[in-house]
Amino acid sequence: MRKKIVAGNWKMNKTYEEALSLVSEIDNMVKDEVNGDVTVIVTPPFPYLQSVGKLVQGNDKMHLAAQNVSEYESGAYTGEVSASMLKSVGVEYVIIGHSERRLYHHEDAQTLYKKMKLAIAQGLKPIFCCGEPLEERDADRHFEYVGQQLKDSVSYLSNEEFNQIVVAYEPIWAIGTGKTASSQQAQEMHAYIREQLSRMFDAEAAFNCTILYGGSCNPGNAQELFAQEDIDGGLIGGASLKSRDFTDIIKSF
Ligand code: G3H
Repeated sequence: MRKKIVAGNWKMNKTYEEALSLVSEIDNMVKDEVNGDVTVIVTPPFPYLQSVGKLVQGNDKMHLAAQNVSEYESGAYTGEVSASMLKSVGVEYVIIGHSERRLYHHEDAQTLYKKMKLAIAQGLKPIFCCGEPLEERDADRHFEYVGQQLKDSVSYLSNEEFNQIVVAYEPIWAIGTGKTASSQQAQEMHAYIREQLSRMFDAEAAFNCTILYGGSCNPGNAQELFAQEDIDGGLIGGASLKSRDFTDIIKSF
């Protein structure tokens, strides 16, 4: 059985006080309302990681992720945060290759591979993001595009390394737009991703890989998305900033 995950990516939102109250609310709601076997991940901005981590420590459903990590191990890289630093403050997962980092920070496929490799070596679990822009979907090249993203970064991992990653499919046209992929569009891409992974690694490893959907996921559409065979949860942006919405999404399995 592969792991079911709902991860909230807070992006560059919330003050320190707001972040602490959001995570306390989520923590309480998850304790009171979530019974099933689901891994809940919160991904606050860097300065809040340690405090947020301490707040969720006693809740075995709740886990901590970072939004980014350096491709370098240590040294003179002003402004960067290394995998070992994240590990040392209790981070377990790290988002790598989010479309916003690819677009605004020009992160290329090789950089993403280096980040994953280093993160895994430090005991972190990468959440590797992929997904096509609207023009690729409109031109019916979305499968090819996502397949290439996997090939260019994920395929270089060893079998052991691959077992540590989570994949998130986030069609760029659905991120923050209120326009969700239909459950059918999402399912067919997830099945395609799993198929590609089974060629790069082995069928069992690909079967066991958690593949999340991201892009305007909300309490109204999560249930239908999560019911699809190859959708194992969600990477949630906007709706993860509201404790009620986020918890309702977690309860959608
Ligand atoms: O990392 C999360 C995704 O970018 C989805 O964001 O739920 O606001 O569309 P969204």
